[in-house]
Amino acid sequence: MNKITVVGAGNVGATCANVIAHKDLAKELVLVDVKEGLAEGKALDIWQTSSIHNFNTRVIGSTNNYLKTKGSGIIVITSGIPRKPGMSRDDLIKTNATIVKEVTEKAIKYSPDAIIIVVSNPLDVMTYAAFLAANKNPHKVFGMAGILDTGRYKAFIADALEVSPNDIHAMLMGGHGDTMVPLPRYTSVSGIPVTELLNHDEIEKIVDRTRKGGGELVNLMGTSAWYAPGAAVGQMVEAIVDDQNRIFPVCAYLNGEYGLKKIYLGVPVKLGRNGVEEVIEISLNEEERKLLTTSAESVKKVMKVLDDLKLFD
Ligand code: NAI
Ligand code: 2OP
Repeated sequence: MNKITVVGAGNVGATCANVIAHKDLAKELVLVDVKEGLAEGKALDIWQTSSIHNFNTRVIGSTNNYLKTKGSGIIVITSGIPRKPGMSRDDLIKTNATIVKEVTEKAIKYSPDAIIIVVSNPLDVMTYAAFLAANKNPHKVFGMAGILDTGRYKAFIADALEVSPNDIHAMLMGGHGDTMVPLPRYTSVSGIPVTELLNHDEIEKIVDRTRKGGGELVNLMGTSAWYAPGAAVGQMVEAIVDDQNRIFPVCAYLNGEYGLKKIYLGVPVKLGRNGVEEVIEISLNEEERKLLTTSAESVKKVMKVLDDLKLFD
């Protein structure tokens, strides 16, 4: 790909730029931030690792000059404030909605055909905000959360079973919050259902820790995570650039799938060159469906807060 832009050169944005550069996924990667010099500095630092890590992606930084992002095929939005201890992702809405709207409009002006990947929190509603601001096909606007959340879930399972995390396959649905829906019925270790290897209580403990996985890190570090989020975005960008048609949990627009409409929510999708190539509908039992409905309701409550801000009227 010719050019990829990452907006926000903070913890997640810079890490994600670093991962994309290491994977050599673009000729040029532009990092943008409002803080004078921050993006330029981090971009220069990453570029100076090119001969050490053997990549060619030219990483450049820009303080709010979107002209430099012109012609990007993918725009990753990480700008916004992160959680502090005691805050939920939803507490970030007012500040981050204003930022997400502004940066989406600026970026899309110079790259009207770009695919947009949103990372800013509250994720599901910020993805919806970017969709409204970009005014484009929802298959080209989606959010990252599920790969991160399943990454945590798989790490906990790997620890419990003392096996390689590489052998664990899992699916997780719903909003990026405490109501997310990890799916043990769709979790396997080299094809063996996890339910054969761990008992109900052990699985429930892991599911609960996954739901609170973001908060666990906020409590440890005083701010939210960045290595796993950056890596997760890198995996999505790779699937798009290399047209891999990978099946990932992605925060995607639903238009009737799972009985839900006009909402962004985590679901399994096929991710390829055109973005979300397909939303995959898996069968859910009654309990799983109930959990998904509860999660959708909690996202809708935050969507209502966004509506009340009247940013898009
Ligand atoms: P950070 O504070 O390290 O970086 C955010 C950056 O955005 C700052 O450098 C700031 O100057 C910049 N920024 C603010 N307004 C801007 C604007 N108008 N234009 C350009 N840049 C602007 O925060 P961090 O840790 O990188 O987190 C970023 C966001 O990602 C937060 O909202 C956080 O909650 C979210 N997040 C989401 C995850 C997910 O799974 N979806 C995982 C981790 C974080
Ligand atoms: C995370 O899950 C806070 O969304 C961020 O790490």
